[in-house]
Amino acid sequence: MTRKILVTGGTGFIGSHTCVELIAGGYQVLVLDNLSNSRETVLDAIEQISGARPGFIRGDIRDRALLDSIFKQHDIGAVIHFAGLKAVGESVARPLDYHDNNVAGTVTLLQAMQQAGVRSLVFSSSATVYGDPQQLPIPEDHPLSATNPYGHTKLVLEEIMGQLSRSEPGWRIALLRYFNPVGAHPSGLIGEAPQGVPNNLMPYVAQVASGQRERVQVFGQDYDTPDGTGVRDYIHVMDLAQGHVAALRYLQDNEPELLAVNLGTGRGYSVLEMIQAFARSSGRDIPYTIAPRRPGDIAACWADTRLAREKLGWTAVRDIQEMCDDAWRWQARQS
Ligand code: NAD
Ligand code: UD1
Repeated sequence: MTRKILVTGGTGFIGSHTCVELIAGGYQVLVLDNLSNSRETVLDAIEQISGARPGFIRGDIRDRALLDSIFKQHDIGAVIHFAGLKAVGESVARPLDYHDNNVAGTVTLLQAMQQAGVRSLVFSSSATVYGDPQQLPIPEDHPLSATNPYGHTKLVLEEIMGQLSRSEPGWRIALLRYFNPVGAHPSGLIGEAPQGVPNNLMPYVAQVASGQRERVQVFGQDYDTPDGTGVRDYIHVMDLAQGHVAALRYLQDNEPELLAVNLGTGRGYSVLEMIQAFARSSGRDIPYTIAPRRPGDIAACWADTRLAREKLGWTAVRDIQEMCDDAWRWQARQS
């Protein structure tokens, strides 16, 4: 019997796309999600796309008894752990919620895995652990720091997993440091569905293109970048999803290891370039105004992608236009 992959946060943005790629790769998927930032109908869309419906348990990663029963009742071979809170501003306002959900929740998950003897884990980290980059592109051995509670949870969790793997050989852990995930499945059936006003650029731009919002505020045009606006390494969520499958295969095929690896494209685009690309995809005018810098923002950030290529045999292949085309197809289906 094929062992299952437990996907926490599997109905969320990145989790749902990863479920599609796992199913395409022949894996059996079991999703655990408390639906705090997603909907159960995402499972219908995953089934429509991939022809298989993941198993689903509505529940919380902080619920130890539930986790123990899941590991008892299912033959879990590995865990891909997406579940967590991710809004930087909210984390500043409610730090304890972030430490409870992200840190305590993950520690509970690790304890349940330890007890069940499941020692393969792919973890959603973030390029936010590099703080304000001292060099570009950013290699994995760049110094780590955190500038807000959300980033701090990722940093602490990376450290906890490092301590765990040193204390107890046998753990296979991939810390995947995502750059800026955007886009949607090309079917337009799954995508990013932020609640309220989007914090991130791409979903905001998409809502301006669809007429839901009036104009984009460009946070700062006085950065030391070619056009003065912030530069980021946007990565298509389907490339990211494939990176998870590559990481899972790597962990399965190699000796126990703790691997921290960047998932990015290795090139940056400015805010204005993103707005232009989205205008091309949507065929809509995207009005914008220049606003003050957003506190805590950095000027530029893009990944050194060599380690992912060497270790995982993975590179991102989708370009900025494909990211915008697919995000627009998804956006156009939202009412
Ligand atoms: P998302 O909010 O769409 O998905 C997270 C999912 O986890 C949601 O479905 C939510 O309902 C669920 N969840 C949250 N807390 C839970 C809990 N305690 N128990 C069970 N389920 C819970 O977010 P996403 O964009 O798909 O991000 C997934 C992961 O990747 C997060 O850990 C996030 O911090 C990390 N990450 C995201 C980005 C990004 O830009 N989207 C960048 C870097 C890292
Ligand atoms: C943000 C988070 C980061 C997190 C990442 C993915 C902050 C400070 N950082 O990264 O920790 O890992 O999301 O969830 O929140 N921009 C605008 N107008 C907007 C929105 C954004 O001009 O309405 C600009 C930003 O200034 C930045 C770029 O667009 O230059 C990208 O912003 P965003 O999508 O929020 O991602 P990050 O700031 O890179």
